[in-house]
Amino acid sequence: MANKVASLRFIVTAGPTREYLDPVRFLSNPSTGRMGFAVARAARSLGHRVTLVAGPVALRTPRRVERIDVVSARDMLAAVRKALAAGDGPAALVMTAAVADWRPARCASGKLKKSQMSNTLRLVRNPDILKSLGPREKGSVRVGFAAETGEPTVEAARKCREKGLDLVVANDVTQPGAGFAVKTNRVTFVFPDGRIEPQPLMSKDSVARRIVRLAEGIAGRAR
Ligand code: CTP
Repeated sequence: MANKVASLRFIVTAGPTREYLDPVRFLSNPSTGRMGFAVARAARSLGHRVTLVAGPVALRTPRRVERIDVVSARDMLAAVRKALAAGDGPAALVMTAAVADWRPARCASGKLKKSQMSNTLRLVRNPDILKSLGPREKGSVRVGFAAETGEPTVEAARKCREKGLDLVVANDVTQPGAGFAVKTNRVTFVFPDGRIEPQPLMSKDSVARRIVRLAEGIAGRAR
């Protein structure tokens, strides 16, 4: 039986990011933040300290959770870096956020008029938050999500490898009861040693609890 970690420091990202092209227009996605808020709540109720880095969402902050609101992918990266550096000891980072991979090459300071806009929008790549974080402390945990359209495990295994993760929570957002803006999820856990564990349809709260339990086990084994 692996050592169980009594109390971990969780850093959870949630929701979408917004990438503005002027003060009234942005690129984003339909993430509501429910999955991440559920992870924050579950970690807190299981006795862990939690920092929740939230993109623009309409959800109430779980009790006794520190919340940092961000807008863009670059803000989120800065907030995650700061949270990782701030605490003592290793952290469990759970990246549920649907981070925008691209942003407009420039953001105008005033509203763009139709007459000023062309029908082509120039985009630049955002940083990959998980890949930008660098070496990890012993005992730390990194969990990613892979929301795919279609069978998700091959892509999840690639992301697990490329981003150096301990666990990827994969789901097919086209399945009934899974994905954005619903209270349930049907996920598959994908591990770096090739193990693939499909889970039944569950509430996001139940998925969150399982993720926290897995993170506790991973942290315990690393110590
Ligand atoms: N992620 C991240 N930084 C980004 C984009 C994604 O840290 N700029 C994280 C997400 O929070 C998630 C994991 O990486 O935990 C996978 O995100 P996903 O959008 O599924 O994958 P991408 O890396 O964007 O790859 P692709 O576009 O090929 O699906």
